Amino acid sequence: MTTTAVRGTFLDFVDDPWKHVGDEAAATRFVHDGLLVVEDGIIADFGPYPEVAARRPDAAAAATVIADRLILPGFVDGHIHVPQTRILGAYGEQLLPWLQKWVFPEERKYFDPEYAIPGIERFFDNLLASGTTSCQAFTTAKRITTELVFEEAARRDMRIIAGVTAIDQHAPDWFTTTPEQFVADSRELIARYHGVGRSLYAITPRFAYGASVELLEACRLLKQEHPDMHVHTHISENPSEVRGATQLHPDCTDYLGIYEKFDLVGPRFTGGHGVWITNPEYQRLHDAGAALTFCPCSNLYLGSGLFRLGRAKDPVNGIRLTFGTDMGGGNRFSMIHVLDDAYKVGMLNNTLLDGSVDPVDQDLAESQRNKLNWARAFYSITLGGAHGLYLDDRIGNFDLGKEADFVALDWTAGPPGADWHASLLWDGTGAPDDLETVGELLFAMMAVGDERVVAETWVAGRRRYRRDGA
Ligand code: GUN
Ligand code: ZN
Repeated sequence: MTTTAVRGTFLDFVDDPWKHVGDEAAATRFVHDGLLVVEDGIIADFGPYPEVAARRPDAAAAATVIADRLILPGFVDGHIHVPQTRILGAYGEQLLPWLQKWVFPEERKYFDPEYAIPGIERFFDNLLASGTTSCQAFTTAKRITTELVFEEAARRDMRIIAGVTAIDQHAPDWFTTTPEQFVADSRELIARYHGVGRSLYAITPRFAYGASVELLEACRLLKQEHPDMHVHTHISENPSEVRGATQLHPDCTDYLGIYEKFDLVGPRFTGGHGVWITNPEYQRLHDAGAALTFCPCSNLYLGSGLFRLGRAKDPVNGIRLTFGTDMGGGNRFSMIHVLDDAYKVGMLNNTLLDGSVDPVDQDLAESQRNKLNWARAFYSITLGGAHGLYLDDRIGNFDLGKEADFVALDWTAGPPGADWHASLLWDGTGAPDDLETVGELLFAMMAVGDERVVAETWVAGRRRYRRDGA
């Protein structure tokens, strides 16, 4: 058995802060001087240093001390595209033309392992340098790319949910698969990778607009064969896409209805984006236990729209929610940037909801829920992300028995001015010992800092990234 231990200042979440308005401390666990003991990648002990050290003196004696940092659970990216790594920052198009012009030609190159392998390695390097330790990812329509993605994730011991991308229409012939091929590829990869190590297979129809009835039937078949399997897709991202998809299915009243028609919506269903999801669709997502992924970098970059965070977090019929980069639709790898943009989307939505544009639209309760304070923000990319993926029994916080993924955050890092800003909030030695200051530093990291705040990233108890070299 391999045992490692880390001593430092820890913060994680034990509940959803949206349920504790004004009392965020009730949702958090803050241990100023803590010890985390990991055995074979799993958290074996955790708590205040004196208590854990008394129980585990050997581990305490050998502990790695991470000073002057805040240690949080590793970040969860609920929606990202591996083969878009090289087209980050593609210019000038909204969703549908962007796919044709930039995405499909690039993803096609990943059918060739020589091109795919360095891109996939760089993808995971970038994730780790951003503090992301788990992701739900798209690959390509080919088995080979998907296989290579699972292999690389396993080499790094990272938790990943992925699957062959199902698309057979509204794309060039050289890019698509067929329903028969998709089922055959999926079955083979499910047998090899699903539930092996930290990998999970997902049935991954790219989006309803790109799927024939036969392809959606193929997805239904796989879901019947594996009822507990994740389903990962896109939904209601862009108005032209919504129109295109719903016109293909005149018997469905809305976009979600298409996936419902093929029995794909339930627990472990994730629809990426959901910018234009209507209130009846929200209600049905809630009833089904299904999730959306909020991808603000992408929604701004591609001009898709403003996700209704406050609606998604409705206390009565809110939904499961992950946050995601949607890289390369999103122009960053970093979940810190996602928080930055998520905050701004919330503020923009509040301009519409505060009644100043049209008093009829005023909804102060939803407006309050749009405000992404530090606790809501970091919950959403840790325990909240795990909850959205139905993985909160395995990742997301420092509960015993969970997988030991964590990041060490440096509040003094970031662009010019970030260190000075942080010093206005805290100029003491070591990490602050009060939650209020810790919260202020976390908010500063997302609003003023950037991915440089990630000083170290640990996966399954092993350090896999160090900003300042070996
Ligand atoms: N909808 C279908 N495919 C894609 C994709 O690759 N990125 C985004 N953002 N939306 C999509
Ligand atoms: Zn996407």
